[in-house]
Amino acid sequence: MEGKQTLWKQKYLLEIDEIDEQHKGFFDLCMKQALLCDRARKGEAISVRNIIKAIFALRNYAFYHFHTEEGLIVKYRYPGVYGHLRKHDLFLQKLMEFSEELEGYIAHQDTEASESFLDLADRISAYATTWWGEHIVEVDKQYAQHIRSCKGRPSGGECS
Ligand SMILES: [Fe+2]
Repeated sequence: MEGKQTLWKQKYLLEIDEIDEQHKGFFDLCMKQALLCDRARKGEAISVRNIIKAIFALRNYAFYHFHTEEGLIVKYRYPGVYGHLRKHDLFLQKLMEFSEELEGYIAHQDTEASESFLDLADRISAYATTWWGEHIVEVDKQYAQHIRSCKGRPSGGECS
């Protein structure tokens, strides 16, 4: 993890600037959280609170990004819109399961991160990184193609 600049990869490029920037932003947050865990494992005094803040930043960003993305695919009348929304829902559902697991640690936020807490935090960032990578390549690329073909039409703008 250490030394890497970003977890974003060229193969994630959709050529829709706003979305690409947000995807990069999300991977940056995953990286930030994973680096905090690395530092804690190396003996640095990192509190549970610091890592929980990073996890909730990921969660907030996911809401923000899905809002943008879903608005865009509705605007361009992407035929697979509901299937796509459902995929986002499943990700959020998994985050809810993680937040249940976090609950026991929330009462002890000012303590240093324990091994079991770090394992949980690592599972969350690993899940988020893997899910987003696969989702972009397998699912987002489909709507991106639709939007690009809409934009390429002489009437520009929205597809019917
Ligand atoms: Fe998506």
